Amino acid sequence: MAAWRISVRPAEDGDRRSLALLLAAVAEERDGIAAEPPIDVEKLATSWTIDATVVAVAEGVIVGEVHVDPSWMGFGEIGMMVAADWRGRGVGTALVAAAVEWARARGLHKLALSVFPHNDVAIALYRKFGFVEEGRLVQHVRRADGELWDLIEMGLLL
Ligand SMILES: CC(C)(COP(=O)(O)OP(=O)(O)OC[C@H]1O[C@@H](n2cnc3c(N)ncnc32)[C@H](O)[C@@H]1OP(=O)(O)O)[C@@H](O)C(=O)NCCC(=O)NCCS
Repeated sequence: MAAWRISVRPAEDGDRRSLALLLAAVAEERDGIAAEPPIDVEKLATSWTIDATVVAVAEGVIVGEVHVDPSWMGFGEIGMMVAADWRGRGVGTALVAAAVEWARARGLHKLALSVFPHNDVAIALYRKFGFVEEGRLVQHVRRADGELWDLIEMGLLL
């Protein structure tokens, strides 16, 4: 039986620093997201687009976030992360559901995202919601160590 409760809500101005710290921690993993250290936490906190972000909160702490970048062309590009200690407990699922709801409420016709091919958990999560693979960008992302990583493009028609 789960001993935790996760709630999902729109991000608020007071979440800026927590969001930036979450991203900095996930960037340290050098695995699932494009960002790598060093992250300028203060700058990121200031520039974060709060009104396009939904956060997951557990025990009063932000444990995950999803943000949607809406395009004037009608689709929204999503990015997301869950704190390492909170993965595999349904937080990502709750956040993708919230992103779909957010996008539908704003009349977007499609959600799009990019994911590294080795990110099996993220790909499984997106497929669960009906996202399909639409293409592959070859050696697209140059990592800090010089490696070139592919990206898989996925999309969900709403
Ligand atoms: C990808 C990420 C957001 C998933 O969040 P999460 O909270 O772990 O996701 P959930 O617990 O809701 O699990 C979602 C699905 O992923 C799959 N999954 C979860 N844990 C898994 C594991 N250990 N192995 C394989 N698949 C797994 C399952 O299909 C699961 O759905 P199910 O439980 O209904 O079967 C999270 O791993 C993360 O933040 N990773 C680092 C940052 C990142 O990669 N962001 C995405 C960039 S595109």
